[in-house]
Amino acid sequence: MRGKFITFEGIDGAGKSSHVDWLAECLRQRGLSVLVTREPGGTPLGEKLRDLLLHEPMHLETETLLMFAARREHLAQVIEPALARGQWVVCDRFSDATWAYQGGGRGLDKAKFLALEQWVLEGLQPDLTLLFDLPLEVARERIVLANRSLDRFEQERADFHERVRQAYLDRAQHFAHRIRLIDANQSLEVIRKILDAILQETIKSN
Ligand code: TMP
Repeated sequence: MRGKFITFEGIDGAGKSSHVDWLAECLRQRGLSVLVTREPGGTPLGEKLRDLLLHEPMHLETETLLMFAARREHLAQVIEPALARGQWVVCDRFSDATWAYQGGGRGLDKAKFLALEQWVLEGLQPDLTLLFDLPLEVARERIVLANRSLDRFEQERADFHERVRQAYLDRAQHFAHRIRLIDANQSLEVIRKILDAILQETIKSN
């Protein structure tokens, strides 16, 4: 039986990445085979593109095309084969991030996004997307506290991140059947309980 495809999304500083490995471990404890991966990245070529995307200034459409180029490779080499083998794939960011960052944040023409998505995804969408949402000020505070060098996206101004957040929220309304909104401004324990309940539902619906 084909595996399920779970993605994690949210603005920078929403804390989603700290839940990725935990959720994968929960699935493994239930006897499922799980592959954890991320975007941009997930393949040797994708990781090289990630380095460029996070640090090299470039035109918005170049940025979008490289995100989708990395995604094409990721789908062909990693995601599709794993799902076909029956593995569950847990991916830290996917196409919703392009919608939110390049579309919402930078104003990419929606028609161009949709054309690329149709070309590259060929109809594939995650079975479940966990969208971690929290006020911008809280997310910013977390990034400052982490005290590390910031990438090109993290360095963007507050209004950029506000547009990214809004684009994610709009998308969650549009794809309510697969995107679950998580209030990330709660303790780790509370968030894990919520995630656990969502996982149980997803496993049952298998
Ligand atoms: P990460 O810090 O969650 O690993 O993500 C790296 C950055 O890449 C993050 O700031 C969001 C950005 N990004 C996009 O702008 N578009 C995309 O399609 C993806 C996957 C990530």
